Amino acid sequence: MRIRPQLKDLEEYKPGELIKGAIKLSSNENPLGTSEQVISEIIEGIESGELDLSLYPWSGNEAELKRAIAAYLEVEEDRIVIGAGIDGVLDTLVRIFMGEGDEAIIPIPTFSLYESLIKIAGGTPRYVKREKDFSISLDELISACNDRTRMIFLASPNNPTGNSIKEEDVRAIAAAVPETMVIIDEAYAEFAPSSFSLVRHLREEGDENMKANIVVLRTFSKAFALAGLRIGYAVVPKWLTGIYKRVAMPFSVNSIAIAAAIAALRDKEHLRNTVELVRKGREFLIEHLQPFFNVFPSDANFVLVDVSPAKSHAVYDALLREGIVVRDCSSFRGAGDSLIRITVGTEEQNMRVVNAMKHIHKLFKMQ
Ligand SMILES: Cc1ncc(COP(=O)(O)O)c(C=O)c1O
Repeated sequence: MRIRPQLKDLEEYKPGELIKGAIKLSSNENPLGTSEQVISEIIEGIESGELDLSLYPWSGNEAELKRAIAAYLEVEEDRIVIGAGIDGVLDTLVRIFMGEGDEAIIPIPTFSLYESLIKIAGGTPRYVKREKDFSISLDELISACNDRTRMIFLASPNNPTGNSIKEEDVRAIAAAVPETMVIIDEAYAEFAPSSFSLVRHLREEGDENMKANIVVLRTFSKAFALAGLRIGYAVVPKWLTGIYKRVAMPFSVNSIAIAAAIAALRDKEHLRNTVELVRKGREFLIEHLQPFFNVFPSDANFVLVDVSPAKSHAVYDALLREGIVVRDCSSFRGAGDSLIRITVGTEEQNMRVVNAMKHIHKLFKMQ
């Protein structure tokens, strides 16, 4: 049977591993777990029949979620679109903008799904290597664009490097390539200073002119602890919402996910506790690992550690023997073979990571 030739060397997405009995710090999930308030609201909703799982998701609930997101971000609700996680939103956006022969720019290392979606659409990813501190050279990025470039993917904070892109840089890029959609993936925005988010830019500038070409992606998977339910959203220029609705799979976001997201936005305390725990834990990990390894600054809920001269796979294995699963970053294009990414955990988990990493430092006789 013939499959499309451009799919032949597509790599399978490699998620962070879950190993029974070990602490999972491999997928940047929420160390507090899902809010109890959210769980009880869902259970009550199902038991009372208000959340009727025999029915297709109701557009009224989706509208309520968009209103709640709009209030959370202080943007107009007719600029919000939702999907099955950022992954689902990206899938729809790529289907809108990319086709055979089109190109997209990806500064690497970064989240690997961008590249897969571009290839599936029949497009060609063009990679721009980040600088040593993982910042992006605007000159290099802009000169990599041509008249076939349809999209640019900028994660901010970036996975796995943890750094953010400056608002003025995004504005400069969007202005330099007005025919190209600039996608800002803010999956980890809640853990960064709030002024770093590009949502402010969209709020201030509006998009009265039809040229607006910036999209900001957000998710309920990280700070809102709903990764298992698959729900995310984007703030888009108004001109894009109509086509988004026509291209997106109907009912791609299920009714439990919609109800849980509304409840999660209401539980401000859980969000505050999560952000506080992550920011403290991040400082703790950086402070205690830095004397032994090169640890990069992070605006996200993980830290990136250079374990050279050891190899990342060897340190991954050694941590696993200590009951801790992290992410070996050698599967990220352009990341080399000495980087590991550690999700910020609970205080106790972070302490275990520090002790294990000190042990590994000795074991590998690093200087
Ligand atoms: C940069 C980035 N974007 C998107 C995602 C996926 O988000 P979601 O769970 O909303 O699909 C991840 C997950 O790790 C990520 O790191």
